[in-house]
Amino acid sequence: MKKAAVIGAGMMGHGIAQLFAMAGLDVVLVDVNEEILDKALKEINWSLGKLVEKGKLTDENAKKTFLRVKATTNLEDACKDVDFVVEAVPENLELKKQVFSRLDKASPNHTILATNTSSLSITEIANATQRPEKVVGMHFFNPPVLMPLVEVVKGEKTSDETVETTINLAKRLGKTPALVKKDVRGFIVNRILVSMFTDACHAVRRGEATMEMVDATIKYKAGLPMGAFELADYLGLDIVYSVSKVMEEAYGERAKVCPLLEQLVKEGKFGQKSGKGFYDWTVGRPRIPFKLAGKYDVERVYAVSINEAAWMVYEDVADPQNIDTAVKLGTAWAQGPCELADNLGIDNVLAKLKELYNKYGEEVYKSCPLLEEYVGKGWLGKKTKRGFYTYE
Ligand SMILES: NC(=O)c1ccc[n+]([C@@H]2O[C@H](COP(=O)([O-])OP(=O)(O)OC[C@H]3O[C@@H](n4cnc5c(N)ncnc54)[C@H](O)[C@@H]3O)[C@@H](O)[C@H]2O)c1
Repeated sequence: MKKAAVIGAGMMGHGIAQLFAMAGLDVVLVDVNEEILDKALKEINWSLGKLVEKGKLTDENAKKTFLRVKATTNLEDACKDVDFVVEAVPENLELKKQVFSRLDKASPNHTILATNTSSLSITEIANATQRPEKVVGMHFFNPPVLMPLVEVVKGEKTSDETVETTINLAKRLGKTPALVKKDVRGFIVNRILVSMFTDACHAVRRGEATMEMVDATIKYKAGLPMGAFELADYLGLDIVYSVSKVMEEAYGERAKVCPLLEQLVKEGKFGQKSGKGFYDWTVGRPRIPFKLAGKYDVERVYAVSINEAAWMVYEDVADPQNIDTAVKLGTAWAQGPCELADNLGIDNVLAKLKELYNKYGEEVYKSCPLLEEYVGKGWLGKKTKRGFYTYE
């Protein structure tokens, strides 16, 4: 593989193009106008300069890397001799289908076409081409240059060869790939985050806890870098809302969008970028008091996350290792949910879910049959040497 194209030079696209160039590949960046491309090239140059400052790249290497990036508004011209394409245009199915149909016609037969979509169906995008077996999800995290994870997602018709090439490419770009074996909404990381957020948001709506109590517990007890509400505000509530809607459609009541989120979006409160969201960012970053850690039940946070991970294993979407890798690298959580379950004891996790389900009757707490099965077989985790993993 020598040459790649990245379609869409926005927030994600320019970073992805930089990664290709840093890995020694020639890359063409495509967008709809010259101004956007100029800005993207400036950002790549700035980012390479930062890496030089930090001693991660020599000045000479940074210059050579920058020279490997070309930019054009002509998609057909850009793709005529590339081996791999990553699409990073806005999250709109019709637009992505149009782009893929053009990519299919413009690219050589051997070229793999990857989409960086966060929430759309890889299979539907692939069906806009005559080569669905060569279409794959390649989900980078923001910012792509710094975030170590890439979720590689198999569409219904994606071939094993395409998956393998994409996994190897992710490694060549310096990333750790996590394989998502089925084209499910939210892939791995967003499913776990949405389940945690769903529980948190409904708890606040029901008046069981304040946002600060939940966030302090998630941050200081569960050990995530940000609380659920803080993270949602940071990502943008409009984006969290549209991803949540897609998840609700896919998973029904289990991922029911919380009315609190809906209300804020209606009011145009999108979080950090608009100044207000769950928190008021006009007065600076939210201060989440340490003394509130534990005022919310941390075991709930664990239980819903583990339950969602169990659904993924049960439905053969991903294996425990890939789930744990994705969650650790994608959220900076010290333990993945499957490891966590084995450490806590799967019987304890199941008991917590049953307690919550009996109390609130909400689907997010309904335990996955896999957890019942494990407990039934006496696979309780480390203490019985068998759980999601096997121990010596
Ligand atoms: N932003 C994130 O945190 C993030 C993380 C992971 C994945 N994603 C996904 O990556 C994709 C891009 O997101 P983004 O945040 O970089 O969006 P963005 O809006 O910053 O960039 C999209 C770019 O695509 C360009 N574009 C639009 N139509 C085009 C066309 N026909 N041909 C070429 N370029 C075109 C736009 O001009 C824009 O520069 C989306 O699918 C999104 O879901 C985003």
